[in-house]
Amino acid sequence: MGIILASNNKGKIKEFQEYLNCEILPYKSVVGDIEIIEDGNSFAQNALIKAKTIYNAIDNKDAIVISDDSGISIKALGNKPGIYSARYAGKGASDKDNLQKVIDELKSLNLDSSPAFYTAAIAIVSKWGEYVVHGWMHGKVITTPKGNNGFGYDPIFIPEGFDKTLGELDSQVKKSISHRTKAIDLALPIIELILNK
Ligand code: IMP
Repeated sequence: MGIILASNNKGKIKEFQEYLNCEILPYKSVVGDIEIIEDGNSFAQNALIKAKTIYNAIDNKDAIVISDDSGISIKALGNKPGIYSARYAGKGASDKDNLQKVIDELKSLNLDSSPAFYTAAIAIVSKWGEYVVHGWMHGKVITTPKGNNGFGYDPIFIPEGFDKTLGELDSQVKKSISHRTKAIDLALPIIELILNK
């Protein structure tokens, strides 16, 4: 039985593979290019939309489809970009464009930092049903990007208890504290239960 990830985000695929320590197939390699319309109002709704769209498209109904909908919420920006994190600077925007938009908005408020948190919602869809779990990581964002590790907003995010950005911190440090790890820790027993059915 395979585990299919309803994402083509290279950063996420790498992190899931590391965290779950087993082969994760990106959905494109199984069903090709399918349009997923993420029109939910929450991370949980969007995660379920992604996983259900892919599960409905695959032939092997014994497979498990997992998806992650995640993003960053910045206090000074009224908790934006939130569920719009991947497309904050517009449809098709790059991670760099999105990060720059956040920096520009903070600067226009005369701020050089703001409390912020990441959320990850993971949906697990299989013939045994649908589940969603969440994880969070709190910290602050700054307006000077630092480091090249991680992806997305990591170069401007300093986790609580640290004085470096996730761009500067080792990937193992991120792994030990991240929103995705916390959600995966909750998802693992569910995935194991399904694998052992
Ligand atoms: P999604 O693929 O629609 O869930 O969009 C997630 C977006 O949130 C990514 O494109 C990043 O911009 C941001 N994001 C989520 N998790 C992380 C993370 O761990 N580090 C940096 N950015 C993240």
